[in-house]
Amino acid sequence: MSSTRGKFNSRIGFILAAAGSAVGLGNIWGFPTQAAGNGGAAFVLMYLVLAFCLAYPAFMAELIIGRHGQANAVESLRKISTTAMQKRFAFIVGFGGILCAALLMSFYSIVAGWMLAFTAEPITTAVGANAASDWLTSQSTSRNIIFTLVFTVLTVYIISRGVENGIERWSKRLMPALVALLVSLTVYVLTLDGATDGLKAYLIPDISRLFEPDLIVSALGQAFFSLSLGTSVIIIYGSYVARNENLVSLSASVTLIDVFIAFLAGLLIIPAMYVAAAQGVEIFSADGSLKSGDTLVLTVLPALFDGMGSIGVFVGFAFFSLMSIASLTSSISMLEAPVSYTVERFNIERNKATIVIGSLIFATSCLIIFNFSTLFGFVIALTTQYGQPIIGMFCCIFVGWVWHRSSLLEELKAGNEQIEHQLFWKIWPWYTKLVCPTAIAIVFIHSL
Ligand code: PFF
Repeated sequence: MSSTRGKFNSRIGFILAAAGSAVGLGNIWGFPTQAAGNGGAAFVLMYLVLAFCLAYPAFMAELIIGRHGQANAVESLRKISTTAMQKRFAFIVGFGGILCAALLMSFYSIVAGWMLAFTAEPITTAVGANAASDWLTSQSTSRNIIFTLVFTVLTVYIISRGVENGIERWSKRLMPALVALLVSLTVYVLTLDGATDGLKAYLIPDISRLFEPDLIVSALGQAFFSLSLGTSVIIIYGSYVARNENLVSLSASVTLIDVFIAFLAGLLIIPAMYVAAAQGVEIFSADGSLKSGDTLVLTVLPALFDGMGSIGVFVGFAFFSLMSIASLTSSISMLEAPVSYTVERFNIERNKATIVIGSLIFATSCLIIFNFSTLFGFVIALTTQYGQPIIGMFCCIFVGWVWHRSSLLEELKAGNEQIEHQLFWKIWPWYTKLVCPTAIAIVFIHSL
């Protein structure tokens, strides 16, 4: 089977694909609003520390499990297990991660569908189709089903083309487009009235809040979600990385890009809110905090674009295109996790497996749409608050406690002969063995 497996053809292909998975709605929507609600730069500071000190080592752990295993998450975890008990546990953790990725996609594609609908709206408005514009921007079951379906079909299309022709090729196309859109929008928004107040709110830290437990919990949760940890996605992407690649620097590149894009998105979103305020849009909730969540993206920002006149049509289109692209590069990684498992475990053709799993995920999305008030928040909490931290913690435990140290070193040495004598090898194994699992457990228990 291994000779027929896909692989990333280039180092940059992997970096863009993994960064594509990492950079998503979490960066452009989640990070800025969490920062705004948690003391601005105090949150940014804590996020940077946790992203590099906890999420990066955990990312490394998942990546190396996959590169060593050269197989789907379940098989890769089983390969480093020796006892029957460990192998059973490997199945639970690997399969749990795959399930988590599939469930994540079921709600993520609903939100991405909103982004697609809001991308289409400036076009219908420009041609005077006001009824269509209203339908596109109002919550309705029909709109949600149709756009979730469109988004799922796009994801299925890319994944059905395989690793090189699907994931790698599309990440190479979409990621530069994403960065270009983000930079242009940020530069434009920063020239508008009111943007400076937004910059102050974002960049001047409220240091007194730095060690608030809630801030730390939010920052770690955000870092885990943003680096796509605890879903088996990084394991499967790691399994497509060539043996001569240096995993330490690859992981560092992906973490840096992810953190940089989140920071940049903050420079766009928070000043944009204050620009909206300068134009008379209400940006504060009744309790005095900045509006966040869907109100921010689906009400405050569209009101800002409307107030900009004809240029607002282009800005709105560019902004929601950016959100749609970011969603797509993330959702393809979510779908790859169950597809790769099904292809390898049941020896099914990739095309068939992608369509079957894509349909099952779409059916779950429909179930959520029809029971929105009960299921939407529940599935988000189940996957992001419980699934990701628990599975991420177990992956660290596998690397730290189950995997034989000499075999682990051997895997790291492939692509980095000198690693044994570097600072990384002196610190990282202890990090994954003790610090990461303990910190994740503490944060997880606190969040309950
Ligand atoms: N990292 C993505 C984001 O920040 O939006 C979300 C994500 C993608 C989470 C893939 C988990 C995953 F497996």
